[in-house]
Formats: sequence, C-alpha cells, structure tokens
Amino acid sequence: MLDINKIRADFPILKREVNGKPLVYFDNAATSQTPQVVIDAIVDYYSNYNSNIHRGVHTLSQEATDAYEVARKKVQAHFNAKHDYEMILTAGTTHAINIVATGFTQFVTKGDEIIVSALEHHSNIVPWQMLCERTGAELKVIPMNEEGSLQMDVYETLVSKKTKLVFMNHVSNALGTVNPIDFVIKKAHAVGAAVLIDGAQATPHMKPDVQALDVDFYVASAHKLCGPTGVGLLYGKEEWLNKLPPYQGGGDMIDQVTFEKTTYAGLPFKFEAGTPNICGGIAFGVALDYMNSIGFENIATYEKELLDYATNALKQIEGLRIYGEADEKTAVISFNVGTIHPYDIGTIVDKLGIAVRTGHHCAQPIMNFYNIPGTVRASFAFYNTKDEIDIFVEAVKRAVMMLS
Ligand code: ALA
Repeated sequence: MLDINKIRADFPILKREVNGKPLVYFDNAATSQTPQVVIDAIVDYYSNYNSNIHRGVHTLSQEATDAYEVARKKVQAHFNAKHDYEMILTAGTTHAINIVATGFTQFVTKGDEIIVSALEHHSNIVPWQMLCERTGAELKVIPMNEEGSLQMDVYETLVSKKTKLVFMNHVSNALGTVNPIDFVIKKAHAVGAAVLIDGAQATPHMKPDVQALDVDFYVASAHKLCGPTGVGLLYGKEEWLNKLPPYQGGGDMIDQVTFEKTTYAGLPFKFEAGTPNICGGIAFGVALDYMNSIGFENIATYEKELLDYATNALKQIEGLRIYGEADEKTAVISFNVGTIHPYDIGTIVDKLGIAVRTGHHCAQPIMNFYNIPGTVRASFAFYNTKDEIDIFVEAVKRAVMMLS
C-alpha cells in the first residue's frame, strides 16, 4: 500500500494552482513531475560542486566525476546490465535511438529488412526510415488491430533471414499497450536480427531486466522517471557497442588525436562526446533511488487501480470512445467524445486546472489507423489519486456539455 499523501508531499508542484484550481496533472506520459529530493540534488550540484568531469585533477572535478559515475552504476543496477560501461548516458531516448540507427548504416545493405511496429512514436520511425534511405534496406511494419495491440501472427511471417533489426516500443505512448517484447526478441534472435526496445513509456511503470530480456539495445529517458529532461539511457550489449562506430566526434570520446588519425576511447566514453548533462546524470541516479524506494510493484498495482477506476468512470460518458483497450496496458487513457475535437476538450479542462495532452502524440500512424486527428490523453502516475480522476471526469462532462 502506498501512502499517497506522503508521496504527494514529495512533489512541490502538486501544491500549485492552475487557473485558480488545484493542479490535476495527468500528462505524465509526456513528462513526470520532480520530487524534492531530485530538485535538491540539482541545487546541491550547482551550489557545491559544479565542474566538468573526466578532465580535472582539482577537487570539484573529481567530486563531479565520482557523482556522475556513481549515477551510471545506479542506472546499471536498476536495469540489471552486466557492466556499467554498457550504460551510455545520452540526451534522451531520441538521442539514444539515433546513435544506434546511425551506427547501423555500415551493417545494413540493400535487400536487408528492418521491422518496426505500427504502434511506434515518431522517434522510433523516422531514424529507421532515414537508415533505409541511406542503405536501400526495406522497412516492414507489424500491423495493429482495433483494440490497439500488435498482430504478432503477422510479425512471425515478417521476420526472416533478411531481417537485420527489429525496433519496438515496450509500451505505446499513445495507447498504453504493453507489447510482447520477450516473444519479439526471441523470434528476432532466431534469425540473427538485433532488437532495440524503446522503454521511454515502460520504465515509469515497471523495472526491465536487460539481461533477462536478452535485448541488444534498450533506451529510456530520465524525465519520465521523476528525473530531469535532457538525459537518458542507451543500454547496449558490450559486443554491439564495441562494433558500432561513434555517433559524434569530440572531446572525451578519444584515446589519441593526431591530424593523421584519431583512436577512440573505450566504452562508455566512445559514445559520450563533449560535456554531458552532468547534473542531469547525477539527478537521474537520485530519481531512480526515489522510484525504487516507492517500489515498482507498488507503483504498478496502484496505477492499475487508477486505470480501472478512470476507465469505468469515463465509459459512462455518452459518445466517449477509448482508443487502446489491450489486456495489458499501462495507466494511459486516450479517448474522444463523438466528433468533438480533442484540442477543445483539452483547452476547457485546462481552464479547470487539469493537464492532459491532446493531439497525435507523435504517433500519426496510430491516428491514421483510427482515422482521427488525435485524442485526449490522460496518463497517470503513482502520485495521482481517485479524487483527481473524479474532478477530471466531471470536467470532461462539462466540456462535452459546452461543446455539444
Ligand atoms: N513522447 C512524449 C509523449 O508521449 C512526449 O507525450
């Protein structure tokens, strides 16, 4: 059982008002809120040991380096990677995906196939399309069905000796569907293909074990996990990271530089050119500590309660359709009411202090599948409450009344 009042007290932003009403924050799939302990870590860094890392003999630089590398170990422990140097700290999920997609240029050629799913975020479509344009490889798409799940029987027919890579999100950002990544990884490995799983939307709700999954690459963002924006993770198996070329050239990623030839640093630094988001990395580690202190099993159980409660309440509204009703889904509800534009509902509920996302959610192919311009998306976190859901449902009813 979670002590929700105690948890809510950890988040200063939850005390504020928006448009004269207490904030109801249901846009957690876009970014999560930040607990005081993470804010304190950021203030502490800039107040006491702000300095560049891996470069200085002076005390501040060593303190910052130690704190950054401790954070990397926390990330390693959280995802159960074999080695800390398999955890590349990036600017976020999109950056992490692009490191892999760009790096694979030399391993993919005309006649090869790359498989993505119909449920992807644009960040897991566009980099692979660009890879296909560069190499002549073909992009194959696992179709979705009406309830918002992937057609895995079709995946089985798509995966073949031609498949070089499979990319899939662990959880759909637009619908909340949890994808069967265990099955996907096993089938891909059976034909010698590599798999990248985008964990941006899964990691706030569950704790993936990259060794148990036997996944080749797993990517995520700190800001969905109570951490700051501008920092994320690329996990890669050591053998893959050694094979991939660096993404960017610059300081910190080199071994020796001469005008004739440069040799690169080993892992993880080969992929970490330039001054990283030092404070962000340190705060990411603190955010993971915080989330783990609450416990992911507790989070999942409580969020399921919120999801069921909100689903039942919203379904009582006449004309409301929920998009994404897979058996396994995280606490995300995408919906429309009749032909009312989602933007209009979002604007009215904002006037009542409620934050939701409206639009295509960077997943236009899903919206095209349903033939809609977008949805209203309410996404819950462990600090939300049933009382907030009641307020939201009443606000949607009011918006529908005004707009019908
Ligand atoms: N990808 C984030 C979302 O789904 C921004 O809202």
